[in-house]
Amino acid sequence: MEGLEVIECERCPELCESRSRIVNGTGPDDADLLFVGEAPGEHEDDGGEPFVGRSGTVLDEALREHGLARDAVRITNCVRCRPPDNRDPHKEELTNCREYLEREIDTVDPELVVTLGKVPTEHLLERDAAVTKEAGTIEDARLDGTAHRVLICVHPAATLYDGSQQETFETAIATAAEVAGVAEGDGSGQSRLDGF
Ligand code: URA
Repeated sequence: MEGLEVIECERCPELCESRSRIVNGTGPDDADLLFVGEAPGEHEDDGGEPFVGRSGTVLDEALREHGLARDAVRITNCVRCRPPDNRDPHKEELTNCREYLEREIDTVDPELVVTLGKVPTEHLLERDAAVTKEAGTIEDARLDGTAHRVLICVHPAATLYDGSQQETFETAIATAAEVAGVAEGDGSGQSRLDGF
């Protein structure tokens, strides 16, 4: 690992086969908000960046609508290599990659960790979660021994399959923007925490 970038990793034999590359997190290493998804999909594996496919478009639009520029936040995944056929990462793969995620959370030390969907929510909170019901709630969690605030959010892809999830998703993103100090409708993507 160099800084927050994993350059080489062979911990998950199956993912070494299915990936084209390791997809590291993007965005400032001192961001107020750290969004955590599940694992790269096809587009992310091609492009080498998290959330650049359809889910990424949904996320970008919601961020913009709530005054957050994509490059002002940090975006990463629980697992950095694309699983075969876009299956969910196995428990062992999540465990293998956890050290990298914990180091990222520790270094960035965001105001809020935003979990996008069931996999990152359950992985980081270490409990079962009913994400649709719990979306928008903030919970204190000890991650790698350090206290962090975690905002539960539905996965952006959920809005593509179920329109009723759109409002749930938007409400959680609005809460994230509020915590980051962005005024509703500001549109600048500039956090009021900047400069302090
Ligand atoms: N879904 C995720 O969970 N992560 C990505 O990077 C893309 C889609």
